[in-house]
Amino acid sequence: MLSLKNVAVKYGSFTAVHDVNIEVTSGEIVVLLGSNGAGKSTVFRTISGLNKPSAGDVLFEGNKINRRSADQIVQFGIGQCPEGRKLFPAMTVQENLRMGGYVHRRKRDEIKHSLEHVFELFPILKEKRNDAAGSLSGGQQQMLAIGRTLMSKPKLMLLDEPSVGLAPLIVEQMFEVIQKINKEGTTILLAEQNANAALKIADKGYVFENGTIVLEGTSEDLFANDEVRKAYIGA
Ligand SMILES: Nc1ncnc2c1ncn2[C@@H]1O[C@H](COP(=O)(O)OP(=O)(O)OP(=O)(O)O)[C@@H](O)[C@H]1O
Ligand SMILES: [Mg+2]
Repeated sequence: MLSLKNVAVKYGSFTAVHDVNIEVTSGEIVVLLGSNGAGKSTVFRTISGLNKPSAGDVLFEGNKINRRSADQIVQFGIGQCPEGRKLFPAMTVQENLRMGGYVHRRKRDEIKHSLEHVFELFPILKEKRNDAAGSLSGGQQQMLAIGRTLMSKPKLMLLDEPSVGLAPLIVEQMFEVIQKINKEGTTILLAEQNANAALKIADKGYVFENGTIVLEGTSEDLFANDEVRKAYIGA
């Protein structure tokens, strides 16, 4: 479904990411692991069209999307839930969700249906639909960010560190919902520093260090790997 082939990304003269090869098959949950500054978000923004690769190709469903605009890429079916949530804090929960459905704005029934679907997944958002997004707790804001991404009905959802700053119990609930979204048919590419939670739901993963992939494998393989355990699981 998604292939990155020898992708490099530069910020000015600084090469943030190089020689990255990633394969995501339809139906999978794939996780990118790596510490601060390893290059996970740079890869995400390259897939979603906010960064352009300086080398290599990004293919989605067989088509090169390197040169497509972020807008077009959403229309192709890739939805990004960005690092740090990037909500509109003064707008209500429902208004934030409607922004996420912007690409389908002419299909009113579809928007209504998507909204109901998000409220089903996250009942708390329904309860708080008329509250300002900025008044929600951290966990609720993350749920809203995921819900907003779902409103574009992505085939592939990019989730950039959804668990950051959240209490363990909330993280657990969030990963359950992510798994549910996947079972309903959305392929998921996840960036995480919380390897423990991520590998539990992922099919496979890639470990980033200094802008490149140093290790890849099935979740079982990575979970059993001593270096991964030492660096990201702490056991
Ligand atoms: N806009 C930018 N301009 C210049 N350098 C950048 C920019 N964004 C990221 N970088 C650099 O690129 C490298 C990769 O950063 P990136 O944000 O992709 O890492 P990350 O794995 O997402 O880290 P984190 O876990 O902290 O989110 C880092 O060295 C970072 O300092
Ligand atoms: Mg990041």
